[in-house]
Amino acid sequence: MAHLFNRNIVLGVSGGIAAYKSAELVRQLKELGADVRVIMTRGSQEFITPLTLQALSGHPVHTDLLDADAELGMGHIELARWADLLIIAPATADLLARLASGRADDLLTTVALATAAPKLVAPAMNQQMWRDPATASNVATLNSRGIALIGPASGEQACGDVGPGRMEQPTNIAQAAAALFTRGVLAGQRVVITAGPTREALDPVRYLSNHSSGKMGYALAAAAVDAGASVTLVSGPVHLATPGHVTRVDVTSAAEMLEASLALLPACDLFIACAAVADYRPLAIAQQKLKKGAMRMTLELERTTDILAAVSASPQAPFTVGFAAETHDVERYARGKLEQKNLHMIVANDVSDTAIGFNSDNNAVIVFWPDGHQALPAASKANIARQLITLIAQRMEGRGD
Ligand code: PMT
Repeated sequence: MAHLFNRNIVLGVSGGIAAYKSAELVRQLKELGADVRVIMTRGSQEFITPLTLQALSGHPVHTDLLDADAELGMGHIELARWADLLIIAPATADLLARLASGRADDLLTTVALATAAPKLVAPAMNQQMWRDPATASNVATLNSRGIALIGPASGEQACGDVGPGRMEQPTNIAQAAAALFTRGVLAGQRVVITAGPTREALDPVRYLSNHSSGKMGYALAAAAVDAGASVTLVSGPVHLATPGHVTRVDVTSAAEMLEASLALLPACDLFIACAAVADYRPLAIAQQKLKKGAMRMTLELERTTDILAAVSASPQAPFTVGFAAETHDVERYARGKLEQKNLHMIVANDVSDTAIGFNSDNNAVIVFWPDGHQALPAASKANIARQLITLIAQRMEGRGD
């Protein structure tokens, strides 16, 4: 499936009648998963309003090079750095000429010069202007610099002429943009990862929890993004920054993590349960702070719902990967969980070793699936996460459905 998950695209719109098609192009790019910011030349604003493209892109439209307010937000150099791809559609004959001669006389041409991102240009102009040797020479120059051109298409033009010069259809431009990016092992997959601990309230000021820091789950989220996936983290309370391009849903208790995970299932191809979820919660939560009294106190606990088992038992079950944190008999318990919870894979973590597992920067695991296993020796959690994502992608592909 073509996609632009995790891609930042700057769309430059120059002043031709085809500018109205840029609204549809923004929609298509967003539908493929891109984050889109739009730059409009002064001429293009005669054909379509910045407000339209702002509403569709979800970001303010950039129009001026020398705009103090805009520079306070995302300035032109930041915009140039932010872009993974610069698309110019439509690109008028004048814009092609200015690009070819390296001008930086407005915001769009300045960003085009300032960005290291690849460029995809969709020319649109009168057929005679397209055929003119000056335009042909500019196109040859742009080609020689590795700038990709798409179109123009041939047909009836707004001016009544017939011939080459119509802007390529937005769908084709969006697909060409997606094709420019190399495909990772999880390209196009929608991944949900649980991470961190849960907290089960005892009273308004106390809770039951564990030592999970979230590091393993967050490293998996970053590795899945790098592998081309669209990633949502369902995260218990942790002190970590959200990895780039990851959507994060914050939860506190096991019940909230269950609800958030199940809500995401309709759009989930791969579910990885890395969170250390409480198996039990207090039967009743005291409404007021529990007071010190007798020398002993008994807490009555009840089982929480097993999120992972609920996901794998759901009619919409995605490819499901669990973790098993064990202090002894690691392999036996991990294999048991793989079978009982009906998982595709399980990652066994020996948490008796404090150099790995909970809250450490490193980990070492053994991954089991119904007819095989693989050990991943001690390495940073980032490294283990990359290896796990590769292994999971291989198993998903081998599943053949
Ligand atoms: O967060 P870090 O500090 O980086 O530490 C990482 C880790 C040690 C927490 C992680 O690598 C790990 O092992 N996570 C699983 C912890 C755990 O709760 O394991 P478990 O064996 O108790 O549970 C088995 C599986 O069922 C897990 O995938 C767990 O997420 C899931 N589960 C458990 C209970 C429950 N109510 N719902 C669940 O989904």
